Amino acid sequence: MRVRIAVIPGDGIGPEVVAAALPVLHAAARAEAAELDVLDLDWGGQRHLDTGSPMPEDAAKIISDRSAVLFGAVGRPDVPDHELVWGLIIALRQQLDLAVNLRPVRSWDGVATALRDAHDVDLLIVRENTEGEYAGVGGRVHRGRPGELGVEVAVHSRPVIERAARHAFQAAQGRSGRLALVTKSNAMRFGYTLWDAVVDEIAAEFPDVECEHVLVDAMAARMIQKPRGLDVLLCSNLFGDILSDLAAVLAGGMGMAPSANVAPGRTPGIYEPVHGSAPDIVGRGVANPVACMLSGAMLLEDSGLPKAAARVREAIAEALRDPANHTPDLGGTGTTERLASAVLGGLG
Ligand code: NAI
Ligand code: MG
Repeated sequence: MRVRIAVIPGDGIGPEVVAAALPVLHAAARAEAAELDVLDLDWGGQRHLDTGSPMPEDAAKIISDRSAVLFGAVGRPDVPDHELVWGLIIALRQQLDLAVNLRPVRSWDGVATALRDAHDVDLLIVRENTEGEYAGVGGRVHRGRPGELGVEVAVHSRPVIERAARHAFQAAQGRSGRLALVTKSNAMRFGYTLWDAVVDEIAAEFPDVECEHVLVDAMAARMIQKPRGLDVLLCSNLFGDILSDLAAVLAGGMGMAPSANVAPGRTPGIYEPVHGSAPDIVGRGVANPVACMLSGAMLLEDSGLPKAAARVREAIAEALRDPANHTPDLGGTGTTERLASAVLGGLG
């Protein structure tokens, strides 16, 4: 089996973590008699400085026949953030209509968690990725005057809720069969009551999934108090953004948090660590490559190689049991290279 992927290492520690993750993905694929055919793309900050644009105009077309994209990070101190974040990663998510953002969070033996009780956490945040409070609808008037006004309108539409919800219910079927819809429908009476109604309809198609509705403030408290009881969290764009950062630090930090942006039923998706380009540690060889490797495992799983994905996760778990492999963000003195070779060695 041949899996054609594209790789965008990007800026800062992006190329460092991608370089550490790729050999692991190649080795895991090979163990399943598959070969990764990689299209390497130099999109990002340097290209922006050289040509005025972080990626070519026909970017979506260039990667459209690839089954998946592994992305590192963008952002460099000498280029305004919005040029690269909006000019590359957000633009790609929009052009490929990547409607759902998946952010799995779990704890790992040997890795300290921010809370005593966060061991054995294993949850999946399914975040609607295109509308809600981030739809970009609104305006600002009377600029600079005493009555200056800003209006930000949240947009929630039935088809968009439906596609995110179906994806979340299917994910719950493959996990513990429990799903929590996160809303604020006690205080916001229009958009989030639509979420409640649509999700109840979809729930009827999935009688084997237990579905509860939880208000976002209560969910934030529960994630701190009893994170172990949670499995799939279905969230709007804003709530998913906030809760996934909370969940990530609960269980090991930004260097451990992977994500996938997918268009349900279509390829390519973009698989990327949640973290950014970390200019404060770039070039020192200490970036934690696990978030990128775990994003790569999600890529393998969605590309028809679930056994290769499981191998990657097992090798990471094994490597993390030895504190000598831990990078400084995990409290250790290990390097990217040391952690990466421990994972690679564990693949056998
Ligand atoms: P950041 O995630 O790059 O860094 C936040 C903190 O976490 C830093 O102290 C960093 O050293 C640490 N950190 C992050 N990833 C790490 C890893 N793998 N190993 C060890 N430590 C790690 O976020 P920040 O500082 O807000 O943004 C830096 C740049 O990245 C900005 O230009 C920003 O726009 C960009 N960015 C890009 C994203 C993307 O490409 N998807 C996402 C978030 C930020
Ligand atoms: Mg965020």
